[in-house]
Amino acid sequence: MDLPVPFLSSLRGKSVIVTGAASGIGLGSAKVLAANGASVLLADINIDGAKTAAANLREHGFVAEAVGVDMAREDQIAAMVASAIDKFGRLDALHNNVALLAREVVGRDLTITDLDADIFRQCLDVNMVGAAVAAKYAIPHIIAQGGGAVINTASIAGIRGEIVRPIYGSSKAGLIGLSRSIAAQYGKKGVRAVTISPGLIITPSVAKAVSQGQVDRLMRHALVTRAGKPEDVGNLAAFLIADEGSYLTGIDIVLDGGFLAHWPTYAEELEALHEVSQPLPAK
Ligand SMILES: NC(=O)c1ccc[n+]([C@@H]2O[C@H](COP(=O)([O-])OP(=O)(O)OC[C@H]3O[C@@H](n4cnc5c(N)ncnc54)[C@H](O)[C@@H]3O)[C@@H](O)[C@H]2O)c1
Repeated sequence: MDLPVPFLSSLRGKSVIVTGAASGIGLGSAKVLAANGASVLLADINIDGAKTAAANLREHGFVAEAVGVDMAREDQIAAMVASAIDKFGRLDALHNNVALLAREVVGRDLTITDLDADIFRQCLDVNMVGAAVAAKYAIPHIIAQGGGAVINTASIAGIRGEIVRPIYGSSKAGLIGLSRSIAAQYGKKGVRAVTISPGLIITPSVAKAVSQGQVDRLMRHALVTRAGKPEDVGNLAAFLIADEGSYLTGIDIVLDGGFLAHWPTYAEELEALHEVSQPLPAK
C-alpha cells in the first residue's frame, strides 16, 4: 500500500467514518486520514474489502477498523455510527462517499423518457438518503464532542447536465443541497458540511467501466496533465475535516483538474458519444 505523507497535525486523535472505504476514493480518503493520525472506521457493503484495507492500515501503525454497512438500510447505518463510538469513543467527522455504481444499475440509467423509477428510487436510497441518514445519526455525536464536519462526495455530474446517467447526476445534485442544509441547520452547533464534486478520478471501478478512449477525450478538456487519484479527494477531505479547514462550510468544491473551468464542451462530447454508440452507416 502506497502511503500518503502526513500534512495535517490537527487530525491526530480525531475519529472519522468513511463510507465506501473498501475501494477507490473512500479508500484514498481513509488512507490520508489515517496517515495524518485520525482513527478511521472504514465502512462498506464489501466487509471483506474493508477489513483487508483496515488491517493494511493497522500494519503501518495507523488506527483503523472496519464495519459492514448497506447504505440503503437505516438500521445498519445506525449500527455503523454506534460502532465508531464503541471503537473510538467519539466521532468528529463523517465522509459520506457511497454511490450505487453497479453495472446493472448504471446501465439502466440512460434517458429520462426510458426512466426506470425503481432504479431511481434505489439510487436515491443509497446515494442520497443513505448519506442523510448517516448524518442524522452522526451529527448528535459530532456536536457532543465539540463540533466537526460532514463531507459528502458528489460529482461534477451533479452540476452539469448528463447525456447519460441522469439519475446518478440528480442524486449527486441532491447531495450538494443536503450539505448546504446540514451546514445551515447545525453550523452554530459546530458542525460544518461541505460537498466535494470530483471530476475524473481513476479508481478500480472507473478503470473497469471507462475505456482509454473516453479517458483521453475527457483529459483533452482538463487543465492539468494527469487524471485524478483517490488520494486527491482524500487530501481535500482531510483538510476539510482538520482544524485547518474550519472556516469552510456550506459549499461545494469542484475537484476536477479544471475540467469545468473553461468554455462548455457539450457539442464535442455529444459528437464523440454518437461516434462510439452508433454504428457507422454502411457504404
Ligand atoms: N471515480 C470517479 O471518477 C468519481 C467521480 C465523481 C464522483 N465519484 C464518486 O465517488 C464515490 C466513490 O467512487 P469510486 O470511483 O471510488 O467507486 P468504487 O466503486 O471504487 O467505490 C465505491 C465503494 O462503495 C461501496 N458500496 C457500494 N454500494 C454500497 C452500499 N449500498 N453500502 C455501502 N457501501 C457500498 C462499494 O463496495 C465500493 O467499495 C462515489 O460516490 C462516486 O459517485 C467518483
